[in-house]
Amino acid sequence: MSDTIPDPRHAADDDLRHVVASLPLPRRIELLSGSGFWATTAIEEADIPSIVLTDGPHGVRRQPDDSDHLGIGNSIPATCFPTASLLGATWDRDLLHEVGAALGREARSLGVGVLLGPGLNIKRHPAGGRNFEYLSEDPVVSGHLAAAIVRGTQSEGVGACLKHFVANNHESYRMVVDVIVDERTLRELYLRGFEIAVREGRPWVVMTSYNQVNGQYVSDSRHLLHDVLRSTWDFDGAVVTDWGGIHDRVAAVRAGTDLEMPSSGGAYDALVRRAVESGELGDDEVTERALAVARLARRSRAAHERLGPVEIDHLEQHRLSRRVAAAGTVLLTNDGTLPLRSDADIAVIGAFAARPRLQGAGSSSVVPTREDAPLRALEERMTGRVRYSDAYDPDTGRSDPSRLRAAAELAATVDVAVVIVGLPAIDEAEGYDRTSLSLPAAHDELVAAVCAANPRTVVVVQSGAPVFMPWVERAGAVVFAYLAGQAAGSALVDVLLGEAEPGGRLAETMPASMAIPANENFHGRGRQVQYREGLYVGYRYYDTAGIAPRFAFGHGLSYTTFEWSDPQVTGSGTDLDVSVTVTNTGLRPGSDVVQLYVAGPKSSLDRPDKELREFAKVSLDPGASSTVRLHLDERAFAHFDRRSEAWVVEPGPRTLHLAASALDVRHRLDVTVGSVEVSHADLEPTPRPARRRTRFLSTATEFEAMLGRPIPAPTPALPFTLDTVVEELDTTRLGRVARRGFERIAAQQSAKLLGDDPDPVLVKLSQQMLREAPLRFLVSMSAHQGARSAFEALTALLSTLRLTGRR
Ligand code: BGC
Repeated sequence: MSDTIPDPRHAADDDLRHVVASLPLPRRIELLSGSGFWATTAIEEADIPSIVLTDGPHGVRRQPDDSDHLGIGNSIPATCFPTASLLGATWDRDLLHEVGAALGREARSLGVGVLLGPGLNIKRHPAGGRNFEYLSEDPVVSGHLAAAIVRGTQSEGVGACLKHFVANNHESYRMVVDVIVDERTLRELYLRGFEIAVREGRPWVVMTSYNQVNGQYVSDSRHLLHDVLRSTWDFDGAVVTDWGGIHDRVAAVRAGTDLEMPSSGGAYDALVRRAVESGELGDDEVTERALAVARLARRSRAAHERLGPVEIDHLEQHRLSRRVAAAGTVLLTNDGTLPLRSDADIAVIGAFAARPRLQGAGSSSVVPTREDAPLRALEERMTGRVRYSDAYDPDTGRSDPSRLRAAAELAATVDVAVVIVGLPAIDEAEGYDRTSLSLPAAHDELVAAVCAANPRTVVVVQSGAPVFMPWVERAGAVVFAYLAGQAAGSALVDVLLGEAEPGGRLAETMPASMAIPANENFHGRGRQVQYREGLYVGYRYYDTAGIAPRFAFGHGLSYTTFEWSDPQVTGSGTDLDVSVTVTNTGLRPGSDVVQLYVAGPKSSLDRPDKELREFAKVSLDPGASSTVRLHLDERAFAHFDRRSEAWVVEPGPRTLHLAASALDVRHRLDVTVGSVEVSHADLEPTPRPARRRTRFLSTATEFEAMLGRPIPAPTPALPFTLDTVVEELDTTRLGRVARRGFERIAAQQSAKLLGDDPDPVLVKLSQQMLREAPLRFLVSMSAHQGARSAFEALTALLSTLRLTGRR
């Protein structure tokens, strides 16, 4: 290795490789891990700056000091945009590009190089704890919308970071869980959104998820990071671990993980150095990874320099947040009670009216620059009388009979009752899943009582994910407001008064029960989760089973009416242009979402009834028309064949469904697609279902056939290793003692962070986090060089004592 480092100021971009390769090995290794919690390591002699990466995704969570990643510490106030489930419900690429740009601008103003978002994991189950942070149950919606956010953010010189790559679809045991999923489902459902977002958005960064996929941690997986992400999708950015998620440092470098975050204080650096010295890891592999980090840092600095400083107009940001919130608000039912007349006398019922839920808890939680509450906004804008009853405790969701009675009595005296219900904050957080889809019992009772007292009741649900709505038919109108960010109140009132239309369409199914195939293998079995339902997630299941959910994927009402006419398809083979003319036939401006699903052919392959392949949103004034054009390419007709590892188009007929929801098909067009390049002799034979499928949960034998191998045995709890989760230490008596020790230390630390009057959500979150943390996470977080060997010695000792019977 050369010991002279070229003068970096003169190094053109092309020379960066040479600059990095010329660094001594320890310096290159330093680049592969962060400096502190939120920054990369600077290598001054090579003119490689340090840049800041910070959360994300729906606002900038820039912490002034080097603290934590759970939203526990304070962060600088920043615009709190609606969370991803509302953004997904906009189905609006242009608008989300604007949101991405606004996020990017604000991030740049705060000196941030990379914003950690968007999150685009598939909502496999409606009770996923972090669903509020994800866009959709469908990869086409997730992928295109994420790409729009990425492009917006990056247009302002700030890198976007797709997360969490991949199959991080629930929270329980997220740092160790092994997701067992067949390759076809993985490619078509869980990877597909990332593929679209990478190809279309060209993100600077991708974050690996904490979990394993088919027996391998994603950050160690050369298959996922090299073969799929880089070689097949042409990803040219940097791969970063989720915070504290590094598993096997050497395997990760080899696989293509560039940056370990946060810094583990050099705890793992010696392993990388030794691996290179022993020949286990190539020196050039370290260079390659260091180069990706150096490129990211230089790219970020150049973008900041090019675009210069930026002043944020917080009012403008707030206005955008308000516009987006209305655009993703979903009107589920309406008998004409909405929009409200501003001179009506109304009762506003529910504590969330005064203290709305704006976002979920955890790393995504930002400190808003301001907060609009619905009650205040209604009081300001209604000319009629506005009376208020809080009806329940906003923290616990509990109530009592007299409060419920008072609310119902108030409702009986007014023209319209607006009742706001939702999940208490403790039910929606990173780090744990929900155990039920029900609202607090008192909320259901409240809605039932208010609807009984006044049929002209508007129910507003504030929740980042589906809930059961057993009273839905009794309400005059139901508005699903999601977690709408800091403008939640003003945006809601815009919609209630008809000053903005409810532009949202569900990007996820609203179920009426937990009877979905993924429920059997959702979580709760600790270290392994089998995705035995395959592709039958969300509408793919309901459609194919012929079961109506509470509200279908894609559903959402408008205050105006639309007519779809003149459906056309042109082109040939798999290269098709589909169009339909949409006319606003009502009296108000409004928007509609054209959803294009592809069905068929009925052949040898087991597949969902129909799958979304394209969509477009169109906004129209009353009486106006527009022809919406959607393009379909080969991928819209292809499936992934496991055996040949290729996307394959089966020749034969297809039906194109132009639809306003998965259940509301407006036009059907029949086409035939032609032959394929892949020889059918090589393809995997898949038994054709004899009749309509009635069972969607595969048996162990069927699942093994889908996997093409036996279902692996879950990892046993003993012997203890660095992958052992804190609560698994309970397996032995001495382990229990060690666990109590960790808990004591953690309790002391969080007491310091949380103060005298701790937020119960954060207490639950941090306790859960520790209980399910693998010991290697504690190594990373201790940021201490000696931590790894100390923990290794401890696990060896605990396992040995167990094995020699001395429990
Ligand atoms: C979350 C990431 C987040 C990171 C940094 C992790 O716990 O999973 O989404 O970006 O922390 O706060």
